[in-house]
Amino acid sequence: MLVYQEKTQIKAELDLRKAKGQVIGFVPTMGALHQGHLALVKQALISNDTVVVSIFVNPTQFNNASDLEKYPRTFDSDIALLESLNEDRIMVYTPSVDDIYEGNLRSQKFDFDGLEREMEGKYRPGHFDGVATVVKRFFEIVNPDNAYFGEKDFQQLAIIKQMVKKYDIPVTIIGCKIHRESDGLAMSSRNARLTSEQRNAAPLIYTVLKKAKQEFASKSANELVKWVEEQFKGHGILELEYFIIADEKSLRPIRNKTGKRRYRAFIAVYADDIRLIDNIALN
Ligand code: PAF
Repeated sequence: MLVYQEKTQIKAELDLRKAKGQVIGFVPTMGALHQGHLALVKQALISNDTVVVSIFVNPTQFNNASDLEKYPRTFDSDIALLESLNEDRIMVYTPSVDDIYEGNLRSQKFDFDGLEREMEGKYRPGHFDGVATVVKRFFEIVNPDNAYFGEKDFQQLAIIKQMVKKYDIPVTIIGCKIHRESDGLAMSSRNARLTSEQRNAAPLIYTVLKKAKQEFASKSANELVKWVEEQFKGHGILELEYFIIADEKSLRPIRNKTGKRRYRAFIAVYADDIRLIDNIALN
């Protein structure tokens, strides 16, 4: 498995492979890899000749300096986990901040027709400008045929699809199912920061999502929101930031359901300063 730190070097190798007709897959990550990331890499290995995995904690997508500082960085075990796949078709790209931002550590400003203003966009101002800036930059460097994103960050996935359309970037975006621990907690790099007490409490997030799905046909969106808020009231360990039922396309919160639309429930919860998000398709 080859590991690159500089864009000029990885680009040169990728250009050679592309000239030979290879199909290139790309899995962007911020490291602290887990089985959910490995599932993306394995899926990418099925339909690409080479799979590039980037490991880069992107400063511009953090709206909170302490969240950036505390974000887990586990480079050696990330490499070991990727090595465990025993695949010489994987290339790892672990750039420095300067290799990506070239001395201008700023996000570009994007307009994704409102998708960027809902949920995560509302609670983490500037987050999606940072995500889109770095992903666009990665697409320029790696120039992949296919890129893989987890559905845990469903809004991010929708925004990347929109970005590719808007900027006419020749890459196919593939969304991959959420990977869960055996107790239902969505896999996330942030889970590594949970204390055992927080970890034991965290499966409640998926429990309420599943219940909301079960009740969706018979209850109004308002009733479900109220019920979920009740489950976290006075919880002591988990604090609900938002629970929203939204139209899957526009990501706008809904008041009333109509038969033909697809809906999804989105949730963000704090355990102390650790922020966990999840979502579920409702119909
Ligand atoms: O989902 C993530 O880990 C990040 O937002 C991404 C896509 C790697 C961009 O930094």
